[in-house]
Order: sequence, then structure tokens, then C-alpha cells
Amino acid sequence: MKTKLFALCTAFAVTVSLAAQISIIPKPNKIEKGEGSFIFNKQTVIYTTEKSQQNATYLRGYLKNATGFNFESVKVSPASNFIVLDIASSYNIPAEGYSLEISTQGITIKSSTGTGAFYAIQSLLQLMPPTVYSGKATGFEKWSVPVVKIEDSPRFDYRGMMLDVSRTFFDAETVKRYIDWMSHHKINKFHWHLTDDNGWRVEIKKYPELTRKGAWRGPGEVLKASFGSGNQRYGGFYTQEQIKEIVAYAAERHIEVIPEIDLPGHSKAVTASYPNVGCDGEIGELSVQGEGQNAWCVGKEPNYKMLEDIIKEMVKLFPSKNFHIGGDEVNYAQWGTCPHCIALMEKEGMKNHEELLNYFVRRMESIVEKHGKHMSGWDEILDGGNLNPNSRVYAWRSVAKGIESVTKGQPTIMMPGEYCYFDMKQSPIERGHNWAGIVTLEKSYSLDPIGTANLTDDQAHLILGVQGALWTELLGWPARFIDYQTYPRLAAIAEVGWTQPQYKEWNNFYKRMTRHHFERMYQMGIFFRVPPPVAKYENGAVKAELPYSWAVVRYTTDESEPTSFSPVYKGEIFTDKPHKFRFATFFKDELKSVTISPENAPYIYLKPETRIETSILENNRFPIKNLTDYKYDTYFRSASRVKAGDYLIYQFSEAVNASRITVETGIPNISFYGVTDGYVEFSYDGKNYIKAGYFERGVVVFLPEKPVLAVKIVITAPNDGHILSLQDLRIEL
Ligand code: ACM
Ligand code: ZN
Repeated sequence: MKTKLFALCTAFAVTVSLAAQISIIPKPNKIEKGEGSFIFNKQTVIYTTEKSQQNATYLRGYLKNATGFNFESVKVSPASNFIVLDIASSYNIPAEGYSLEISTQGITIKSSTGTGAFYAIQSLLQLMPPTVYSGKATGFEKWSVPVVKIEDSPRFDYRGMMLDVSRTFFDAETVKRYIDWMSHHKINKFHWHLTDDNGWRVEIKKYPELTRKGAWRGPGEVLKASFGSGNQRYGGFYTQEQIKEIVAYAAERHIEVIPEIDLPGHSKAVTASYPNVGCDGEIGELSVQGEGQNAWCVGKEPNYKMLEDIIKEMVKLFPSKNFHIGGDEVNYAQWGTCPHCIALMEKEGMKNHEELLNYFVRRMESIVEKHGKHMSGWDEILDGGNLNPNSRVYAWRSVAKGIESVTKGQPTIMMPGEYCYFDMKQSPIERGHNWAGIVTLEKSYSLDPIGTANLTDDQAHLILGVQGALWTELLGWPARFIDYQTYPRLAAIAEVGWTQPQYKEWNNFYKRMTRHHFERMYQMGIFFRVPPPVAKYENGAVKAELPYSWAVVRYTTDESEPTSFSPVYKGEIFTDKPHKFRFATFFKDELKSVTISPENAPYIYLKPETRIETSILENNRFPIKNLTDYKYDTYFRSASRVKAGDYLIYQFSEAVNASRITVETGIPNISFYGVTDGYVEFSYDGKNYIKAGYFERGVVVFLPEKPVLAVKIVITAPNDGHILSLQDLRIEL
């Protein structure tokens, strides 16, 4: 009994000390700490002014759910034990700003708008025990908040997040949850990338084929399989009713939804559904993403009628003043051979395809303006001519593009890939792209949207803010990878957008993040990325460095995945089998980092002399000989999409005595363009083959019982990519 009581007291003490700390993300711009705390109880009441009813309902939802107290509304300003929500447009507080004053007697929030009060509430929630987010109280919470005075307002008006729902489709519930989490980070724009080559996701009543056909890919569909969707029908879209519901849900959380339909490139889903939309010439070179015939024809006049019809339907769904038309990565090859595009260029005296793009963009601008909105587009819309000064530019290729944009007088959102693209890897061994580099949390945090560029005040004011972006071609797996890629990086971008640069400091942010915000995100239900340890083999021992001093790192000694039952790492371990060790950081048993093996203890792979026989055509920039050099960063690419029945055999000149062979496909380290439908078989005699297994996420592993002479990959359905990538075999002694 005594022991148990002691344990209870300890838990209680810990909760109190955590709650008493002020560790808000994004960091407020002015905090004055006081002494003592305000304690919530059954009698605590909420006093609202005329404009703060909605805020009160929102706040009460969290408080009641978590504490079980009622938080009744009162009409008379109470003397003690109160939460006052006081909104008055006469207050000299910036639109999204607030003051939050906590005394031992009560909590007073003041703002000039409902948005300001909403952000005050977000700060207040972060002062409470984190279970306030889940409503799953442990019974040990002390429902109190520290005495403090916060005066706060954001550095930038635009603090956004873009989600691509084309490459991977996310249902309405997932999108809502995503928006809700954004709001807890004071993110105020949701840029919804609704269309791309791999799926059109917004219902347009006048053009039903856009979603009847263009929202689906796979066998027999107009869109071929892509990005891991494999040999099955894949897709989905949002009805106009669902869109309205999501937009309203976002508005309740003070988030503006900015729709994007990506034009005139990235439009395979359109040209596959309405083939007249495309150009009439030769397809020519493929787009960056490997699509042919995926641009709107600029020279066909009926296209502008169709576009206006689409925009007319969409502006009714989205109250935002802004409408994003894409404009990025247009493959000009189709325009180059199209008689309509050629004729238009001659008529208008255009010298190049940038000018043709500008022609298209200007026409979109006038349609969008006609329907009461301003146009936005990716930074390619700066090319080829001028823009309406109202048109916003989203600088994704570099900071320099953002500088170019404001120098030309355009309102600009900074979202350079190297800081803001959450489809990039978070470390070299993690899933993700790397064309914009490894985008660590620290890298995202280090962005200053205005930075050191020599801008005039007017130019600096044109930088409206910052935005994270999640492109989703690699998001098909693992489960909840959308959470993992977004958090905690979006919290870093939130602070970039909110907090004045003089109050930003990486070590301080990382401590707030790992010490407090991890727990909050966990209670919100986010499957965020937990940072892995670093493990090394040195002087006969494996050693792990924890990613933060209170991290729980677990390990195994048999190559298996660490689980919550694996022992906790306490210090170096002497071993002569370092390559058998695996480490992972755990957060609360459920969340864990990627699994790592010790550096300096690599596997020893055999490199037998190998010959390749295949039915698959090679792309000569990624030739077949890359499969037999046993360099694991070089790889093979097919020249085209493979088909059922295609095969590739690795033939050893002498039988190889291997304990395990791993057949890994896809671009090394990205697992992109691997085998989705197929199997591996192997042969001891070079004639008879034994099935080793079907590909799962592009990998087959098998354990031969005798020396092996050949390993064969067999494709059973067209691969879901315009190319297939294969790698060297990993053959272990
Ligand atoms: C983009 O990443 N193509 C805007
Ligand atoms: Zn054309």
C-alpha cells in the first residue's frame, strides 16, 4: 500500500511541474510569467461578450470533455473563478492577436476578432495538461494553468499547409482531422491541391467524367496505376456537399481553404477523361513525372469555356478570395507540335512557350477575377510575361524565386522545397524524396521567409508568409505516413510563420517540442515522427546516442524490429555481432522511430560474378550493368512501363552459398518505381525454379538451403509507374 501511494504522489508531482511550465508552440511574442496558478473546478464559469459565443462553445468543448466540469455561461462579469472571453473591435489588438492574462482568480482573454480569441484559446490549451486534447483524463491531472500574461500576434498573415490529395487520396474525415491539427498550431490556410495527373478529386456537375473516370486509376480505367496503387482500382473524390462541409469545418477553426486545380500541366486526369482538352500534335517527350499528353491545349478556344464552367462551380464552394490555378512544370513538348498552339503563337507573335504559358495564365487570371477572386499560381507563372498585380506567387523552387516574385511586385508565399516540402526525407534512411535535400525539423525551423535578401520595405511586405507542402506520391504506405511526414515539421513552419525572428531559437524549440509538444501531439492522436537514436560500433561495443536526454531507446540483438517489449538501452554493449543489433526510439510504446543498425557494422554482402537475362528494355542512362556492379546506389531503369510476363534473371557464374538473399526493387532508398505485382523464384540448378515469394512493397527476402545459381523476377501485372527500377541483389554469407 505504501509503495502504491508513493507512486501516486510522484505521478502527481510530475504532472504539476509539467503543467506549470510555459512551452507554447508557436512561441508567443511576449510572455510575462507570474507566481502561482489558476485552478479549474466545478464552479469555474465562462463569461462571454456578444461576439465570443462561438469561441466559448469551442473552449467549453475541450474543457468539459477533459475535466468533467460544466463551465456554465454567466451573464454578469464574475469576481473570481472565471474565464472571460472579451472580443471588441475597439481593442487595439491586431486582427489575429490576443492578450491572455491568467491570475490566481481567473483567465481573461481579449481580442479584436474571433480569430484572435481562437488563438488565445490555443495558447491556453497548451498551458493545460496535454490530456485536454484527447479528453482521456488519467485522474492524476491537476487542472490548473500558471499565472502569466501573454500578448501575442503573428509575424505573417499567411501561415499555410498544402496537401496533395491526387497522388494519394484522403477521405473527408482524414482531411478534417488534418485541418483540426493545423488549427492547434495557429496555421490559418489550407491549400488543397485537388487535381493532378493521377486523379481529379472535386465533383464538377457540368463535367461528370472528371470524377467518373478521372478520379480512378488501375486496370481498365482511363488512368494507369501509379505510386503503389498496383493492380487494383484506386481513387476517390469529394462531392460538392463534402467540400462545403470541410470548408465550414475549417472556417470554425479559422482556417481559409484555398482550392487548387493544377493547370495547364499536371492534367492527365482531365485529358484522359475529356481527350479533346489535350493538344493534337505528337506526344513527344514526357513530363517530369513521366506523363504524356497531360497539358491543356492553349490554342483550343472551347477549353476556356470549360475552364470557366469549372471555376464557376468551384468559386461557389470556396469562400476564399483566392483561387490557385497551378501553372507548374508544364511539359511544353505537346504544345510544340500542336497545330492549334502553333497557330495561336503565330497569331499573337509569341516567341516561346513561356509566352504561351503566360497567355494561358492571363486568361485564367481574367476568368478568376471575373468571378470575384484573385488568382494564385506556382512560381513558373512569373515566366514569359507580366501578371495582374493581385496574382499571388507560391515560390517553391527556391528562395530566389520568391525574391524574384516580390521584385516584380507580386504578393508571394515562401515555400522553398528545401525547407517546406514534407515529401522530402527526414533522414537519409527514411522514406521520402531527396531532390530538395534532406528536410530535417531543424532545417524547416531555420527558414526566414524574408531572410537576408536586400528587399525594400514594400518588397518585404509582399512576402505574405510561409507554407509547408505535402506531395503524396510516396504516401500510399506505411499507415499514417501523412502524420509522420507532417509532424513535427509543420510545427516548425508554424513557428516560422508566427514568431518574430528574435524570439526563435532552435535548441529552445527542440526542447519545447520533445519535452512538451510530443505529448500534446500524442494526445491529439497524431502519429508524428519520433527521432531515431544514432548507433555506432566502436572498440568492440555498440553505443547509442539518444535523440534527446529523456528518450526511451529500445534494442534487439537478432535483427528483429524493436518492440515495446524489447529492453531499454542503458549503455554500451560489448559484442562481436554488431550487425545483428537494431535500435529505435519509443514514445509511449505506440509510437516509434525508424529502426536503425549501428554505423560501422555493415552487412558483408557477397559479390558473385553475375550475368543478366531479361525481357525488359533498358533506359541506357540506368543500364543493366548497374545490377551487377554490387554498388547499392546505382540501379537499373526500364525504358518503358513493364507488362505481365516480363522477367529478369540474375545468373551467377558459379553457385553461391548464401544464408539470405534480399531482392529489393525501386529507386534505392526511395522505394519508388519498384515491383508492385510480381514474384521471385530461384534455382539451385539453373533449370528448375522454386517460388521465393510475392513482392511486398517492392521487396522479397528468402533463405536458400543450398548454393543458388539463379534468381528470377517475374512481373504479373503492368507495373504502376512509367518505369521500373531494379537493384543489385543483397547476398549474405
Ligand atoms: C511543384 O512542386 N511542382 C509545385
Ligand atoms: Zn495545343
